[in-house]
Amino acid sequence: MGVKRLYIETLGCAMNVRDSEHIVAELTRKEGYETTDTLEEADLILINTCSVREKPVHKLFSEIGAFNKRRKPGAKIGVCGCTASHLGEEIIKKAPFVDFVLGARNVSKITEVLHRPGAVEVDIDHDESRYAFGDFRANPYKAYVNISIGCDKQCTFCIVPHTRGEEISIPAELIIREAKKAAESGAKEIFLLGQNVNNYGRRFSGDHPRVTFTDLLKMVSEIDAVERIRFTSPHPLHMDDDFLREFATNPKICKSMHMPLQSGSTRILKAMKRGYTKEWFLERAQKLREMAPGVTIGTDIIVAFPGETEEDFEDTMEVLERVRFEQVFSFKYSPRPLTPAKDYEGQVPDEVGSARLSRLQARHNEILDELKAQRLGEVHDVYFEELRPGGTVAGRSDNNLAISVKGSEELLGKTVKVRIVEPGRTAHRGEVVA
Ligand code: 5AD
Ligand code: SF4
Repeated sequence: MGVKRLYIETLGCAMNVRDSEHIVAELTRKEGYETTDTLEEADLILINTCSVREKPVHKLFSEIGAFNKRRKPGAKIGVCGCTASHLGEEIIKKAPFVDFVLGARNVSKITEVLHRPGAVEVDIDHDESRYAFGDFRANPYKAYVNISIGCDKQCTFCIVPHTRGEEISIPAELIIREAKKAAESGAKEIFLLGQNVNNYGRRFSGDHPRVTFTDLLKMVSEIDAVERIRFTSPHPLHMDDDFLREFATNPKICKSMHMPLQSGSTRILKAMKRGYTKEWFLERAQKLREMAPGVTIGTDIIVAFPGETEEDFEDTMEVLERVRFEQVFSFKYSPRPLTPAKDYEGQVPDEVGSARLSRLQARHNEILDELKAQRLGEVHDVYFEELRPGGTVAGRSDNNLAISVKGSEELLGKTVKVRIVEPGRTAHRGEVVA
């Protein structure tokens, strides 16, 4: 009997990327699968979905329809992830050729649903916080490590609490064990993952000593083989002084912070139930820049949330101007099922939302061009993690700039000093400093 082949497509966030790695690990270890990039030769086709905005959810059915036409006879199709959680059996009703549906909080059941035609596993109370997964990693030089599952926030625009359930922290000793194992096998960069990482330690399943995210950062940094620590996503509300101090002073923690703003208007932030004000956000960002010189700050922004006036939008533009984010992911508000905001009054017309989004992105591109000019000649420690076509190797600086140089695989997994010779908006070209 030949090997069985798995084709897996992953949409959405880093959490999904890690969930896909867990799925591959389980299928390899227990079922003898190998991954393939060719859909036509796969025995199992999986799509790990995202439901945070409406568009990709719409596209799901045409996409799996196309998979169905291209699959080889007898190949199975499974829908996993957040859209699986929120649509559940509706997926099989609409697309009866789908063999099973596996929710974002049920990853560990992959080898079970595989053998149960028509299975739908989308229980959001399922506890995966103590589950030990295999150690398949798509990139051997960096390791994603989950620190919690689910999310306890109730942001009124967000579907995630309904797809990933309530927040449970993974016991610190499991996290440390996984980080140590990964680092010792060559993944010197550890990427801690959670929906709201700096809320870590509020609830475990079972009895555990209280460990805060700041404590956890210290513990991971004490592992000798770990050279770099990144994490996503923190919440601005939980950025207390202790956390900022640890971030700024611990040399292993990479100096790039994601601070999801969502809106710059205190009134809209309240309607979103974000728990902070425009002033709090500005003060934290300023403090961060003072404490950690050279830090880069990224953010997520939603425009045209229900009730957003021109004045509210100007507040967002003002925060953009003052913080000068190095990276912005911006979205037009998308009403999501099961969320309070979809029923709010004052839904903003689509063309108004599009105009605001374009204005925000245009201004941010100008800011990026201004930053670009300053980057020329900067020297950074770059950790190389990926070979690119044309004899190029790509990596990241400590402050998360994407930098590539001419070179080959001997640079992979190494940290090398690089001078930026051709800065760009989102990626830079550099030369190794001899
Ligand atoms: N509409 C638009 N953007 C959204 N996000 C989350 N929910 C929505 C929604 N309903 C964005 C937020 C979040 C990012 C992952 O996706 O900015 O931080
Ligand atoms: Fe990730 Fe949220 Fe998308 Fe789920 S809905 S994949 S948690 S971004």
